[in-house]
Amino acid sequence: NNYLIIMAGGVGTRFWPFSRQSFPKQFHDILGTGSTLIQQTAERFEGICPKENIYVVTSQEYYDITKEQLPFLSDEQILLEPSRRNTAPCIAYACFKIAKKDPNANVVVAPADHIILKPDVFREKISLALKYASSNDVLVTLGIQPTRPDTGYGYIQFDDSDSSDVKKVKTFTEKPNLDIAKMFIASGDYVWNGGIFIWSIPSILKAMDEHLPEVADAFREAQIHFYSDKEKEALDLAYPRCRAISIDNGVMEKALNVYVVLCDIGWSDLGTWKSLYENSEKDEVNNVVNCKTLLYNVEDSILKMASDKLVVVKDLKGYIIAEHDNVLMICPKDDEQLVKEFVAKAEDFG
Ligand code: GDD
Ligand code: MG
Repeated sequence: NNYLIIMAGGVGTRFWPFSRQSFPKQFHDILGTGSTLIQQTAERFEGICPKENIYVVTSQEYYDITKEQLPFLSDEQILLEPSRRNTAPCIAYACFKIAKKDPNANVVVAPADHIILKPDVFREKISLALKYASSNDVLVTLGIQPTRPDTGYGYIQFDDSDSSDVKKVKTFTEKPNLDIAKMFIASGDYVWNGGIFIWSIPSILKAMDEHLPEVADAFREAQIHFYSDKEKEALDLAYPRCRAISIDNGVMEKALNVYVVLCDIGWSDLGTWKSLYENSEKDEVNNVVNCKTLLYNVEDSILKMASDKLVVVKDLKGYIIAEHDNVLMICPKDDEQLVKEFVAKAEDFG
C-alpha cells in the first residue's frame, strides 16, 4: 500500500512578508493557478496513493487552514507536532504512525511547498521509485539537474556507470558552502536533492534506528499511544527528547543504501523571491505583477500585493515590492538574502 506524507510545518521566512508564521507559503496560491501549493502537492499523487493514505504533518497553528484546504483529510490524517524539530522528527512521527497501521507500507515523503510543472513525468518517476523501494532495503530520492551553485540544496553524487533507472548514490552533501557548491557544479557529477523521499516503512525505521537512535526511541515509545486519546500526551514527551535535525543531515548523509532517480519534472522549491520570479510569467518588460498597477519605466521587478490597492510606481528596476497583512517591503531583488534579517528585526513591531 502506498502512503504520502506531506511535510507542512515550515514557516518559509525567506519569502517574507508574503510567507509568514501566521500564513506560510504552502497555504498560498503563489503562482496564481487557483490552488495552493499544499493542494497541488496532494493532487499530484492522484492515482498513486489513495486520499485516505495521505498524512499531513504540521503544527496546531495550521490545523484549521489544513482542514479547510484539504477537506478530505480526517483528523487522524492531520498530525500535529507540539514543537518544530525540523524534518527528521516530523518524518519519524508520521512513519511510526503509519507503521502501527500498516507495518509494510511504502511511503513517499514530500514537502508542501514545491512546484512541479510536469506532473505526468513526476508520477512515472515516483511509481518507478516506489516499485524499487518496495522490494529493496533502500532510501530513494529524486535527483534534479542543477542550474547554479545554490547553497540551499542537498547535492548528490551518483554512480555514473550505473545505467539503471534507480542509481546508487556515492555521496550526499546537505547545503554545502558556496565554494564547495561551485566545485560540485563544475565537476558535473552532482544533482540536487529534490527533497522528496521514497522508502518502505521497514527501511526508514531501520535507518533511523541506526543513524538517529534517540529520535527512533522517542517515537517508538510514543507509538504505543498512537490512535488513542493519549497520543498528544505521548508526543509532548517525545518531542523534547529530539534535537532539531533534518532528515538530510540526520539520515541521508550517513546512510549507505541511498539511491537516486534522475528526473526532469519542472521542479522548483519556491523558497525565495528569486525563485518565484524565475518561475512566474513575466510581462514584456520582465515584471512579475500580481496586483493592480500603474507603472512608468518599471522593469525586472516583482509587485505582489495581498490587498487590492492600486500600486503606482515610476522609474524602478530590479525591485521586490511586496505587501502582506501589516507589512510592506520594498527591496532590491539582488539583496533578497537580507529578508531573513528583516524578519528578525520586524518581530519587534509585532
Ligand atoms: N511538520 C514539519 N515540521 N514540517 C517541516 C519542519 C518541521 O519541523 N521543518 C520543515 N518542514 C517542512 C517545510 O515546510 C518544507 O515543506 C519541508 O519540510 C522541507 O523543509 P525546508 O526547510 O524547506 O528544507 P530545505 O528546502 O531547506 O531543504 C530540503 O529540500 C531541498 C529541496 O527543496 C532538503 O531536503 C535539501 O536537501 C533539498 O535540496
Ligand atoms: Mg524547501
